[in-house]
Amino acid sequence: MDKIAQAKKMAAERAVDFVEDGMTIGLGTGSTSYFAIQRLGERVAEGLRIRAIGTSKRTEELAQAVHIPLITFSDVKELDLAIDGADEVAHDYSLTKGGGGALLREKLVASAARRFLVIVDHTKRVHHLGKFLLPVEVVPFAWELTHYRIEQLGCRATRRRQDNGEPFITDNHNYILDCDFGEIVDPPLLHNALKALPGVVETGLFIDMAYAVIESDGEHVTVEYP
Ligand code: A5P
Repeated sequence: MDKIAQAKKMAAERAVDFVEDGMTIGLGTGSTSYFAIQRLGERVAEGLRIRAIGTSKRTEELAQAVHIPLITFSDVKELDLAIDGADEVAHDYSLTKGGGGALLREKLVASAARRFLVIVDHTKRVHHLGKFLLPVEVVPFAWELTHYRIEQLGCRATRRRQDNGEPFITDNHNYILDCDFGEIVDPPLLHNALKALPGVVETGLFIDMAYAVIESDGEHVTVEYP
């Protein structure tokens, strides 16, 4: 396992230490969350009783494979804990998410969690967000108009594609526009401007949501509480 993968694994496994018997858990999406799901599966096999909601179809499949019982928001309206990765973590603990295209479900699940644990390797830390292109989920109808209006806010936006060249479609049947705004010095201002546009479903800016940021460089793990 390379150093970055080891860092992801260590951060993820530290987050799973927060999980207690009887909890309801939000399960993130991506290569870091993968390690959390695997570790949770081990603890479930040892007798831990939890119920979970996944942030993507892929995560639901991974959870089922390791026998983590899945529920939906018809069963609960609040989760004890959510564990998820991030694409960037800024100095003010604002996050960019959505590199895997799951930002809408991720934000819904994180918003329902009493405590949202962000798990990252050290390469995800930045001063200001923006090097990683900001994912914005938009409805397919009139997406060209939404794209135009997003670019009017001061970015270059590219509709995400799959490897085969077809448009990337989210689990919610929408498109993702990856937006290059340069350095994002005021994440709430940008988030609000984007959300005000009809056709924008959600942005990958997660602001004031993290309860803890758990980071590793592959050797050490730190836990910060914003
Ligand atoms: C998924 O849509 C994303 O928000 C991921 O949580 C984020 O991209 C982090 O992914 P990795 O853990 O794979 O870096």
